[in-house]
Amino acid sequence: MNKIINVLLALAISLPAFAEMVNTNETGGLDSLRKEEVSTEPQAEYMKQDQEGPAMGRDFVDMPPLIPHSVDRYQVDKNANSCLRCHSMKNADKWGATKIAVSHYKNRDGQQLADVAPNRYFCLICHVPQKDAKPLKENTFEPVESLKKH
Ligand code: HEC
Ligand code: HEC
Repeated sequence: MNKIINVLLALAISLPAFAEMVNTNETGGLDSLRKEEVSTEPQAEYMKQDQEGPAMGRDFVDMPPLIPHSVDRYQVDKNANSCLRCHSMKNADKWGATKIAVSHYKNRDGQQLADVAPNRYFCLICHVPQKDAKPLKENTFEPVESLKKH
C-alpha cells in the first residue's frame, strides 16, 4: 500500500515539471521571465500594418485576392502549410484573418471535401503579395463598373 502511495506521490510531483518541459519545447526553448505565454507567431494586428496599405481589392470577379501582408518565411510544402495556421476555417477567427473561400474545399470534380482541396493547397500559385509598383508592361485593363473603386 505504501509503495502505491509513494508511486502516486512521485507522479504528482513530476507531472507539472513534465508539462512545463513540453511547453518550453513548443516555444523552441524560450521562456518568458514574466511567465506569460511566449508567442511564436506575429500578431494579426502587426500583419495588418506590415504592408503596402490596406488590401487592394479585386479587379474582376473570381480574381484571387492579393495578399496584403508579407509572406516571407511562410513554409508551404508537402510537410506544412503555414497559411492555413491563420486562414483555415478553424483558425481564421482567432487571427482576424479572412477565411479561405468555400470554393477551396471542392475538388476539381466539384465534390465537397472536409479539408482544403489538393488543387488549392499551394496558395502562392494563385495569390501573390500586393505591391504598388509600376507595371512592367503597359496594361489598359479596366474593371467592370460594379468593381471600380471610386
Ligand atoms: C499569422 C497569421 C497569418 C498567416 C500565417 C497568413 N496570413 Fe494571410 N492574412 C492574415 C490576416 C490577419 C489578413 C487580413 C489582413 C487585412 O485585412 O488587412 C490576411 C489576409 C490575406 C489575404 C487577403 C484576403 C482578402 O479577402 O482580401 C490573402 C489572399 C492571404 N492573407 C493569403 C495568405 C497566404 C497565401 C498565406 C501563406 C503564404 C498567408 N496569408 C499567411 C493573417 C495571416
Ligand atoms: C487555383 C488558385 C487558388 C489557390 C491554389 C488558392 N486560392 Fe484562394 N482564392 C482563389 C480565387 C480565384 C479566389 C476568389 C474566388 C473565390 O472566392 O473562390 C480565392 C479566394 C481566397 C480568399 C478570400 C475568401 C473570401 O471570402 O473573400 C482567401 C482568404 C484565400 N483565397 C486564401 C487561400 C489560401 C490560404 C490558399 C492556400 C491554402 C489558397 N487561397 C489557395 C484562388 C486560389
